Amino acid sequence: MDKILIRGNGALNGTIPISGAKNAALPLMIASLLTSEPLVLENLPRLADVEALKSILSNHGVDYQVKGKRAGDDGMSGRVVEFQATEIVDTLAPYDLVRKMRASFWVIGPLLARAGEAKVSLPGGCAIGTRPIDLFLDSLAALGTELDIDAGYVNARAPAGGLRGGHYTFPKVSVGATHVMLMAASLANGETVIENAAREPEVVDLATCLNKMGADISGAGTPTITIKGVTSLHGATHRVLPDRIETGTFAACVAMTGGDVFLKNAQASLLQEALDVLEKTGVEVESGNDGIHIRRTGGDLQPVDFSTDPFPGFPTDLQAQYMALLTRANGTSHVTETIFENRFMHVQELARLGADISIDGQTATVRGVKRLSGAPVMATDLRASMSLVIAGLVADGVTEVNRVYHLDRGFELLEEKLSAVGADIERVSD
Ligand code: UD1
Repeated sequence: MDKILIRGNGALNGTIPISGAKNAALPLMIASLLTSEPLVLENLPRLADVEALKSILSNHGVDYQVKGKRAGDDGMSGRVVEFQATEIVDTLAPYDLVRKMRASFWVIGPLLARAGEAKVSLPGGCAIGTRPIDLFLDSLAALGTELDIDAGYVNARAPAGGLRGGHYTFPKVSVGATHVMLMAASLANGETVIENAAREPEVVDLATCLNKMGADISGAGTPTITIKGVTSLHGATHRVLPDRIETGTFAACVAMTGGDVFLKNAQASLLQEALDVLEKTGVEVESGNDGIHIRRTGGDLQPVDFSTDPFPGFPTDLQAQYMALLTRANGTSHVTETIFENRFMHVQELARLGADISIDGQTATVRGVKRLSGAPVMATDLRASMSLVIAGLVADGVTEVNRVYHLDRGFELLEEKLSAVGADIERVSD
């Protein structure tokens, strides 16, 4: 199994290109199930999750073809890939495929909308809490879907004549369930209104793409989304938006080491709250049209308190990385996790590197230390893995991050991007 070795190597300087967003790419790929015509996605990141979803989708009848790289490719940019589901050949999403990635459960929406039925295994995914599916089931029921759960599978059937528009208020914000409703309701008969919808940029990206495919969606990015059902969708070309989590993660790397790095293609508006937290630690953030400069030229990092929240709040997917940063702050910070109930697994691994963190319920108290020291550590989930890399960038000695497959799920060309700005990081195979 691969591991990553990091040796603390001082400030980072240069340019890191930001990839297309994994969390936008996945629902966009799934949206290709809604039409028999080609959906061309530009700036698609090369990630294990994207590859896994390709094989899941091909099981349902989606062919894909790499069309090339975009113009001006710097060797670190995403690809152009065409997805086409001429026919839905299978409405079963089996356990073996779905358990690897929770997002593959989302095929339930387009399969129901286009084929009238779906049998989808209950999901797996990162071990960051129980992550139930009640919101998916309740919202799909509001479109007339008949649902039952049997032997680890959700059996879903649209009424005769297809899904019906409906009204659904989410009791809790869910990104995935909002994606599924957008896709399902796009082909329903009549109008659907979703309240307390997720406002994440990836939801807006999906709605924009669906509208290019002929859907009639308004209000994406606000809590109330209205979808007027249409009878069919057609092909389109869409560029995946930049990855705000990758942006925030590399920003935390530079904040940790000091230096001056330009995050090319990054968009500040996608992660303003996280950038504000970074500025409070004493880091300079300068955003422009084509990217964001992150600078720290001296002085201690300052402690800061923050709490995760649905967008536009601080993203839960950056919580671990910013906690790693605060382990070296000059004072005590408090980090509260409100989205997932078990998302502090990185704490015990950070402690192995010398961090001083205690947990009380949903809040972690992080007491800044003067020094971290390298040690073997275990990646526990996708984003938490990066907190160990960030700590390793300033730790004395060698930090050895095991279970690197977590990182490969969501960070494109990680070692290449960090090495290019001066980090001492390498991948080794056992
Ligand atoms: C997506 C992101 C993930 C991010 C999360 C929150 C992708 C591929 N993944 O995950 O990286 O951390 O949003 O921003 O885009 N919940 C229920 N019942 C449900 C569904 C969700 O209780 O039926 C709960 C979850 O357990 C969690 C909260 O709602 O506590 C938010 O989850 P949700 O927004 O659905 O996360 P995902 O879409 O799975």
